[in-house]
Amino acid sequence: MRIYDRYSDDKLEELGLSGKLPKHVGIIMDGNGRWAKSRLMPRPVGHRAGMEALHEIVREAHCLGLEALTVYAFSTENWQRPVQEVNALFGLLTEYFAKEIDELDANGVRIIALGDLGPFPEKVKACMTDAIERTASNKGLRFCIAINYGSRAEITRAVRLIARSRIEPEMINEDLISRSLYTGELPELDLIIRTAGEQRLSNFLLWQAAYSEFVFTPVLWPDFTPEEFRKCLIEFMKRTRRFGKVVE
Ligand code: IPE
Ligand code: IPE
Ligand code: MG
Repeated sequence: MRIYDRYSDDKLEELGLSGKLPKHVGIIMDGNGRWAKSRLMPRPVGHRAGMEALHEIVREAHCLGLEALTVYAFSTENWQRPVQEVNALFGLLTEYFAKEIDELDANGVRIIALGDLGPFPEKVKACMTDAIERTASNKGLRFCIAINYGSRAEITRAVRLIARSRIEPEMINEDLISRSLYTGELPELDLIIRTAGEQRLSNFLLWQAAYSEFVFTPVLWPDFTPEEFRKCLIEFMKRTRRFGKVVE
C-alpha cells in the first residue's frame, strides 16, 4: 500500500496544468466491450481491463487535488445486458473494493455511491457499504461511483422525497432540488469526459450537467491513461465558461 503525494505547483506547471483545474469531474467510462471485441475476447475481459484503468485515474485525480471524481459504472439501463455480463460486472466491483479499499482509505479518499444499491446482491452491497462507512470521515478526494444510477431515476427520487416532506410548493426551488439529488453535497460538476467516441449522456447527471463542459475522446476506457486524462483537463482549461453572461 502506498501513500501518494499531491502534485506540487511546479509539477502542475510542468504538466501544463497550472491554472483553474475543475473541482468536480464526471467520467462516462465507455468502450470496454469494444476493447475486448477488438482482441477477440469476451466482454468481461474488457471490464477487467477497465477496472485497472480506473485504479490509475482515481490515483491521478487524488494527485491532482481534484475535489470530486464521479464515474459512471452501471446505469439503470445496463440491467438489460446479458445476465452473465451483469454478474461479471458485480464480481469485478466487489473485487475492486476489496483490493483497493486500504489504499484509498490511507490516501484520505472518501467513497460515495450514487444510485440505488437496493437491487444488488448482498455481497456487492456489503462491500460497497463497508467502503462508504469506513471512509465517511475522510477529507480528501470524493470518489463517487454511480451504480444502478440513472439521472431520471435520481430526479424522480428527489421529487418523491420533496413531496413526502409536505413542503409548500412555493418553497421548492432549484437549490432544494439540487440538495435532494444523490450529488447534493458535491461541488458543481465542471467537466464531463466520455471515452470511446459516443457523444451522448446516456442518462448521466442530466440536472448537474446544466453548465458542465464536455470533452469526448475516441480512446476506449481500458486505454484511458493518466496522460489522456490530463489532456482532457488541459482542453477543459482552454474553454471560456460564460454561464450566460458576457465575458470579454
Ligand atoms: C462501459 O463499457 C462499461 C459499462 C457500461 C458497464 P461498455 O460495456 O458499454 O463497452 P462498449 O460500449 O460496448 O464498447
Ligand atoms: C453508459 O454507457 C453507462 C456506463 C458507462 C456505465 P452505455 O454503453 O451503457 O451507453 P449507451 O448504451 O452506449 O448509450
Ligand atoms: Mg457502451
